[in-house]
Amino acid sequence: MKFFIDTADVNEIREAHELGLVDGVTTNPSLIAKSGRKFEDVIKEITGIVDGPISAEVVSLEHDGMIREAEELAKIHKNIVVKLPMTPEGLKACATLTKEGIKTNVTLIFTPMQALLAAKAGATYVSPFVGRLDDISQDGMGIIDEIKTIFDNYGYTAEIIVASVRNPVHVLDAALIGADIATIPFSVMLQLAKHPLTDAGIERFLKDWEKVPK
Ligand code: E4P
Repeated sequence: MKFFIDTADVNEIREAHELGLVDGVTTNPSLIAKSGRKFEDVIKEITGIVDGPISAEVVSLEHDGMIREAEELAKIHKNIVVKLPMTPEGLKACATLTKEGIKTNVTLIFTPMQALLAAKAGATYVSPFVGRLDDISQDGMGIIDEIKTIFDNYGYTAEIIVASVRNPVHVLDAALIGADIATIPFSVMLQLAKHPLTDAGIERFLKDWEKVPK
């Protein structure tokens, strides 16, 4: 299973990368705004840290604008994946960019049918948002299971990025379902590594080590 890190904070990306956990990076306009830096500067810096797919999102709402933005983003680095919104215009842009050989990540997916449409339009990645569905009392993980079944039924090669991950259980469920990727906030990556019995075990070993004759 691949882990992407869901952040535009280059310090977090560096730290997670040093842990050997990062296969790719996803950003979005809100995360870029949170970084307080220029979009292109952040994306360029990320390409120097991680050698894997780096999603950068367009903000135009119509096809031609999306294509203009996408082509500029794709020039930054070979690893750039253009993130497009799950709208009819986004699908049209996805089809155009796929023909041009530019990789795409169709984002803001909330139903299995939206994922199927994105796959049909040629998306390289589809990003269903589990946390935001949970927030409105819907079963976020349920749609991951359904998308996986549909893609397997028909042999779609689009990779499923489980997005809007809020806790370690989301990652566990994504792994059990067999999703290709989870894009994970750094804080959740650290939570995944922690267990109170690990900490207690280290403490006991160190205490016992003091009794070993030196
Ligand atoms: C995915 O690519 C998005 O950046 C992200 O997972 C959205 O998560 P949120 O719902 O926590 O904002």
